[in-house]
Amino acid sequence: MAALKAGEPVTACGNGIRPDHVRYKPWFIEEENKLGKTQKFDHMKLIGQYAGGHKHLITLGRFIAGISAVIVLIPYYHLWKIISIAVNGEDLSQISRYAWQAVILTVSSLLIYIVALLCTHIAAFRVQANMRSSLMRRIITLPLGIFDEDGTGKIRRIVNDSTAATETFIAHQLPDKTVAAVTPIGLLVLIFAFNWKIGLICMIPAVLGFVVMMSMMGNGMQEKMAEYQNALETMSSEATEYVRGVPVVKTFGQTVHSFKRFKECIDGFGKWATDYTLMLRIPMTGFMTCINAIFAFIVIAAFAFSKDGITAGLILNVMYYIIVTPLITVALTKVAYSGEAEMTLIDALKRVEQVMEIEPLAENKSGKAPADNSVELRGVTYRYKDATRDAVKNVSIKIAPGEHVALVGPSGSGKTTLAELMVRFFDVSEGEILIGGENVKDIPSSELMKRVSFVFQDSRLIKKSIFENVRMARHDATEAEVLEALKKAQCMDIIEKLPKGIHTVIGEKGTYLSGGEQQRITIARAVLKDAPILILDEATAFADPDNEANVQAAFEELSKDRTLIMIAHRLSTVTNADRIFVMDDGRCTESGTHEELMNQNGLYRRMFDEYSRSIEWKVGA
Ligand SMILES: Nc1ncnc2c1ncn2[C@@H]1O[C@H](COP(=O)(O)OP(=O)(O)OP(=O)(O)O)[C@@H](O)[C@H]1O
Ligand SMILES: [Mg+2]
Repeated sequence: MAALKAGEPVTACGNGIRPDHVRYKPWFIEEENKLGKTQKFDHMKLIGQYAGGHKHLITLGRFIAGISAVIVLIPYYHLWKIISIAVNGEDLSQISRYAWQAVILTVSSLLIYIVALLCTHIAAFRVQANMRSSLMRRIITLPLGIFDEDGTGKIRRIVNDSTAATETFIAHQLPDKTVAAVTPIGLLVLIFAFNWKIGLICMIPAVLGFVVMMSMMGNGMQEKMAEYQNALETMSSEATEYVRGVPVVKTFGQTVHSFKRFKECIDGFGKWATDYTLMLRIPMTGFMTCINAIFAFIVIAAFAFSKDGITAGLILNVMYYIIVTPLITVALTKVAYSGEAEMTLIDALKRVEQVMEIEPLAENKSGKAPADNSVELRGVTYRYKDATRDAVKNVSIKIAPGEHVALVGPSGSGKTTLAELMVRFFDVSEGEILIGGENVKDIPSSELMKRVSFVFQDSRLIKKSIFENVRMARHDATEAEVLEALKKAQCMDIIEKLPKGIHTVIGEKGTYLSGGEQQRITIARAVLKDAPILILDEATAFADPDNEANVQAAFEELSKDRTLIMIAHRLSTVTNADRIFVMDDGRCTESGTHEELMNQNGLYRRMFDEYSRSIEWKVGA
């Protein structure tokens, strides 16, 4: 294990926090805006596809919202009438009639709008449900390798947040968008119908405001929106990393600046926000000035038309326009916001599509079953997406059925990657992997899963009872079988401590169990699965000798009569292996039995001597 060098920034490691060497750029980021840049993104078509049969409800909802937008404007005619009656001293009894009609129309428009919302809400829920189920169906087919901490967090956010953003857009913003489109047309009628000259003067600032607003909306605004969402996403994942790393920071007496990335992303976001605000400073000021200048233009119009004296008609017009023209401001602001909402939606949909576009691993359903339990790697090379170097380089290994082999090597030398390739977490970049003589790509995944068990290095239990956790390996297993598996995996001391025995529900990430205990439970899962090929990625962190002995005993029990590939960190556990493969920087540099490798005087010998010294040191300490 690499020691912390003086002056090196403390990076979060251990206790579920990733060591620095596994930090990598999430796969979504590289793909960013791929769709946006290469082709026109038709978001409404996409929404239509997800809506299926409910597509027409969206159209209906928008149509009804449009009707309500027209109806809500009609009372302004009544208003004109009321002012006219008051100013001209006509039949005052008519006022209450017009007032009632106006109230009824306003309430009706509100009720009609609610019906529109009802339609769009039903469609929105359907779209969200369809989107989530499509995502889930796609996710289940994806290479397991993308479900690391970063990948899982990103996918979770897309499944939750991006689909929720789409739902909000369809339910609320789509009808509002129709209202925003219809209202200006209705307003034009209201403004020009009564006195076109004053109307024309009022329109000057409104048109100017509109032009300024359109210039704001263009100019890479969509890209800015994507940058904003990305920045939020990065900050949120860095913040999580930071909170996880607080114990490390405290223990090592470091400051917040140890989390350079977190600080950098906050600084970066701050700079982005400042630049963005500065970019919008002039157009926004112009927009606000224009839309608020409408009143000033009414005053100018009043002066211009009062040359012949202040007539009742002029008073009527000025009063009417003072009431109606603020609607232009409201309408333009609505148009601006509906544009912004649309950009947020486009960004959310692009993120969903990026998940939908990840290629699943090709599955050969008619493929053959492996002939036996041998494992063979032929010139296997693998490079992680975005990585600049291969994690595994040209590895060729042949493991006979029933053979017990160990993979050892320094941290980061590619042991876990190699094991993950064997169970097709990813497909190899070069070379091939054969199980029982068949290329893993040709073995149906259900067959492969039946054939191979994998106990992970960082075993995670799900938030269910121990019984349920173990039974995930075989859903029809009885309680007696689960207990038997737990016994073989040396878990009985854990069970005895728990209040409800095997029915105790464990907290997220096994809150109530230590790392070593969690690994033993996952070994029980593998025992129950009873697959003939077993891959064990030994956990590094559990130095407690009792637990170590238990895990060791559980491994031994499990490996009887099976092909065993054991990734070992404590070299004392591998001395009995039939063969040991030594990994160094992605390559398999040495292989042989313990004695043979000790005689070779190579890396294994150095590692073993180092290990023996550390054991002596522990004993002496
Ligand atoms: N998800 C990933 N994306 C990019 N690179 C990765 C990823 N996971 C591992 N790597 C890189 O691949 C190399 C091999 O990592 P791997 O986890 O296989 O090492 P290991 O031998 O299992 O180490 P350890 O003994 O610490 O468990 C490392 O250089 C690592 O940085
Ligand atoms: Mg590993």
